[in-house]
Amino acid sequence: MDKNGKLYIAGHTGLFGSALLAAARKRGFTDIVLRTHAELDLTDRAAADAFFEAERPDYVIMAAALVGGIKANSERMADFCMQNLQMTCNVIQAAHQYRVRKLLYLGSSCIYPRECPQPIREDSILAGPCEPTNEGYAIAKIAGIRLCEYYKKQYGDNFISCIPANVYGPHDCFIPGKAHVIPSLIMRFHDARERGLPEVAVWGTGKAEREFLYIDDAAEGCMDLMENYDGAQTVNIGVGHTETIAELAELVKKVVGYTGELRFDASKPDGMPRRLLDTRTADAYHIHAGTTLEEGLRLTYRYYLETEERTCTLS
Ligand SMILES: NC(=O)c1ccc[n+]([C@@H]2O[C@H](COP(=O)([O-])OP(=O)(O)OC[C@H]3O[C@@H](n4cnc5c(N)ncnc54)[C@H](OP(=O)(O)O)[C@@H]3O)[C@@H](O)[C@H]2O)c1
Repeated sequence: MDKNGKLYIAGHTGLFGSALLAAARKRGFTDIVLRTHAELDLTDRAAADAFFEAERPDYVIMAAALVGGIKANSERMADFCMQNLQMTCNVIQAAHQYRVRKLLYLGSSCIYPRECPQPIREDSILAGPCEPTNEGYAIAKIAGIRLCEYYKKQYGDNFISCIPANVYGPHDCFIPGKAHVIPSLIMRFHDARERGLPEVAVWGTGKAEREFLYIDDAAEGCMDLMENYDGAQTVNIGVGHTETIAELAELVKKVVGYTGELRFDASKPDGMPRRLLDTRTADAYHIHAGTTLEEGLRLTYRYYLETEERTCTLS
């Protein structure tokens, strides 16, 4: 990669995009072009085209997406599917048309089939039905990953993709109802501690297992792929082990300093029972996550306490 080339990071205000921006700057990229969602709505084909025509980026990282937790995904499946399909198609088509030299598309581990052999290999995509609670989102993200492969095969475009595990960290979404599991737990335990509540209810049985990847490690892995990987197959990025939601909740409780009880609400869905990625391809490119879950949670909680942007309004 030519570090003097123009790099467009789509979705740079988000959790992933902001970490990618920091990682790209750290690696010496200086010509970075950015647009907020308000400045450029990537679901608008004409606007996306006009942007690519005017800016002609050499490199693109596609981290813009409509993202949410189980609740938002299951209640707004049409929006999650349609908007992500539109953004994906508009960016990939424009990158092809305006001859982008390399594009990295971010997938998500929730696209793998619900009943997948573990650890999940990259070739498990479409090997079985998706987890129903996020099917719409998964369909759109699978389309993006496959489109990168198809454009590479049919046109020789250097479009690659990756599938990070569940990421978390500073700049995560701390909005009740939209937040993923880690920010949700941080908000709940913090609120319970502040108000002296005797217990905190956690969605699901607590038995589901997830692999949690600190956002800066994920962003470094993405930049490593941009610099070194040109393969057609998507690449998993993970930490190589899972935690149960119960273990995670205990750790968040400890980090926040809450001393009350934990109660699991088994009437709420667990989502996929287990999700651990097979990271042998990433390992071959020396992509390793160095931040422990406890360290990462402490950094995330510190961000939550310090940021003035947080919009937590639990009552
Ligand atoms: N979070 C995870 O655990 C995780 C794990 C693996 C992969 N990923 C992938 O990483 C990507 C980004 O996720 P994230 O967690 O960083 O999400 P995020 O924090 O919600 O960020 C999404 C970004 O996309 C922008 N955006 C949304 N709709 C847009 C539109 N129509 N036009 C232009 N920009 C738009 C958002 O801007 P506004 O906020 O202003 O709308 C924001 O900057 C997704 O593809 C996701 O699948 C996420």
